[in-house]
Amino acid sequence: MGLTTTSRRPARTAPDRPRTGPGPTLPPRCRDEECAAVNDPAGQPEPADPTHPAEHVFAWLDDEAERRSQAGLVRRLRPRSATAEEIDLAGNDYLGLARDKRVTSAAAAAALRWGAGATGSRLVTGSTELHAELEHELARFCGAEAALVFSSGFTANLGAITTLSGRESAIVTDNYIHASLIEGCRLSRADVAAVAHSDPDAVAHALRTRRQSRALVVTDSVFSVDGDKAPLPELSAVCREHGAGMIVDDAHGIGVLGEGGRGAAHEAGLTAEPDVVTTITLSKALGAQGGAVLGPRRVIRHLVDTARSFIFDTGLAPSSAGAALAALGILRDEPQRATRVLDVAAELVTRLRAAGLSTSDPDAAVVSVHAPSPEQAVAWATRCAEKGVRVGCFRPPSVPDGVSRLRLTARADLTSADVDACVDAITMTAPQDAAS
Ligand SMILES: Cc1ncc(COP(=O)(O)O)c(C=O)c1O
Repeated sequence: MGLTTTSRRPARTAPDRPRTGPGPTLPPRCRDEECAAVNDPAGQPEPADPTHPAEHVFAWLDDEAERRSQAGLVRRLRPRSATAEEIDLAGNDYLGLARDKRVTSAAAAAALRWGAGATGSRLVTGSTELHAELEHELARFCGAEAALVFSSGFTANLGAITTLSGRESAIVTDNYIHASLIEGCRLSRADVAAVAHSDPDAVAHALRTRRQSRALVVTDSVFSVDGDKAPLPELSAVCREHGAGMIVDDAHGIGVLGEGGRGAAHEAGLTAEPDVVTTITLSKALGAQGGAVLGPRRVIRHLVDTARSFIFDTGLAPSSAGAALAALGILRDEPQRATRVLDVAAELVTRLRAAGLSTSDPDAAVVSVHAPSPEQAVAWATRCAEKGVRVGCFRPPSVPDGVSRLRLTARADLTSADVDACVDAITMTAPQDAAS
């Protein structure tokens, strides 16, 4: 029997609205205004069909949007052009590898050889020899027993936390951990205690007073808002003393910290330890896309068998695996990139402070500059963009302490003239009350 479809709903016609779905009539590339109309909630106040009987179902979202707007928390998608001339201090391409010809060529070659997508879950058809090679090289580079590549750092964190804990476990986290780690903790159904930022004594107290025998400490290695480093050696000692495992999210450490950019966990001597698991992203310093978990072989085996964000997710695209492999090779051959990015971060801090701005005290590539309010942070970032420097803007609820900031990321490929231009743009456009 053939498949038939019936619909009692009247056909919806909106001839004067742009099409938002994919289809042959869409232009191959979206012009800025069209993209804004499709993606920018503030750009489409009109409901598609106010007389539709189900129109009220999601109408409460408009009240929520209004509340966010009142609080200065509307977020906008700003599609960037492929030929933008601006200096990028907003992305996480710390080593300048995302557009390195060797990396992009490797991505293209991998797509041509293996296909545009992985075609399935890693456990079905989504594991290629390229994935296996990347896992081998990542483990070797970071000094871990084994590695497992995920489709993103986010899913790597979900997989690691949920499978290494559970209802019968306690998890102790730093208050400032990344959202992906928080989601992993929620999904784990463990008893979660979030303690004061960078405070091993508070972690020790939570571990000492737990009811559960199994415990896990979860932390970023470098915190993504201010770029400060977690006290990994101290945390590791506390975990040892209390029989807890540790997950270190080295998303902002890999490629930047440690010998030749091997990361903060390697720098702290933790990547080969039997009770430590490191997660990384391939999407920042390595300029590609994807994530990985590094750790003891028994942990990796457990993830393959049980991590739902691995099993029920399409494998990492071959182009991303190829790009990450090429980036890793470059990092191995050009370790000075890791040193350069730290020098650029230090120079930005020194010069912004000299101009009277209040900055974080970063240990890695992320530098934040305090803004007086969410609205002023947005306006400041916009003025920087007008001067040709793209900066990030962090506002509540993305910041744990409620302080809005410009977020700058140092990059190894910035020249001295670029740094001058960045400092000029940021200082010349600063709000009056931004000075410390
Ligand atoms: C600390 C941290 N962990 C994990 C992630 C998620 O990585 P990905 O972007 O590869 O999903 C990010 C990304 O912003 C991050 O900053």
